[in-house]
Amino acid sequence: MTTTSASIRAGMTPADEELLESALLAHGWAPRLCQHGSERGGCDWYHGAWQLLRMLGIMSTSGVNAAHYAAELARMGGDPSFSRVLITGSADYSMLKLIADARAPSDPPLTYVVLDRCATPLRVCEWYAERHGLVIETLHQDVLDPLPAGAFDAVYTHAFMGNFNDADRASLVGQWARVLRPGGRVVTVQRVRPDFPGEMVRFSDAEAAAFIERVADLAPVMLPPEAAELDVVAMARGHASNFWAFPVRSADDLRAQFENAGFRLDRFERSAPAGPAGVTGPSVPNTDGHYLITAERTEQ
Ligand SMILES: C[S@@+](CC[C@H](N)C(=O)[O-])C[C@H]1O[C@@H](n2cnc3c(N)ncnc32)[C@H](O)[C@@H]1O
Repeated sequence: MTTTSASIRAGMTPADEELLESALLAHGWAPRLCQHGSERGGCDWYHGAWQLLRMLGIMSTSGVNAAHYAAELARMGGDPSFSRVLITGSADYSMLKLIADARAPSDPPLTYVVLDRCATPLRVCEWYAERHGLVIETLHQDVLDPLPAGAFDAVYTHAFMGNFNDADRASLVGQWARVLRPGGRVVTVQRVRPDFPGEMVRFSDAEAAAFIERVADLAPVMLPPEAAELDVVAMARGHASNFWAFPVRSADDLRAQFENAGFRLDRFERSAPAGPAGVTGPSVPNTDGHYLITAERTEQ
């Protein structure tokens, strides 16, 4: 390739610059803040690397499914009954940004409540909110721990349900129903893997090798000089060997979990977002089986 990092940098947008700044901050914060103890001794391999890997365009983030969220955000925009939004789990500020960017100056004010069991993404969201004048509250807790009933008008989340086994996933959907007022809405995207044979989804050896190789190709040309000292290839290796998810095996069961919890599904559609050629595996935007979900909490 002939492109140099300097020429890429010249083309960096303010949003790119902001992501770089945030990525470097999170990388510095993660070893100290990623200490919630519930994920095999910490998750700094994830939160400390996520945004650097995201800069290479190969991670599955909410922006990959932006059109799905945009449709709902347009609907919520001018409606004053949507004033408190809960984001359950967010690797960084991307969901916060997605929502905030969709707001018009004339829209009623919104309070963003970001919940995560890890302090690093919460710190990243606070940093972003302060820069953009967003009203934010953070909840540093497991999502299944107690939350106030009926306290939120919407829940936004992305690829979150793979953090839960089948039983806990039903509890999660029940928790979303409890925290939403009647008429409140969940907007999410979840990958479904029909008949997945194993207990856990992990990178296969071949997927890990392709992922690491791709990062090694992209990092020197896409990352600006500020990140040059960082061993992003080692981060990719750490991500590929540590990442896990529980498989969501059945779209029908997923649909039933929402309906049993008191939701009406307004959208439940399979989609296939385009991912980077030759890279597959969990947490990268694979090209099939992403379900676009919008569910409304009914009166019960
Ligand atoms: C929302 S998921 C997937 C990330 C997503 N693709 C994105 O773009 O942000 C990742 C986040 O969920 C958080 N998380 C996982 N299990 C959790 C739980 N039981 N309670 C609260 N947060 C959790 C992790 O700490 C992580 O920050």
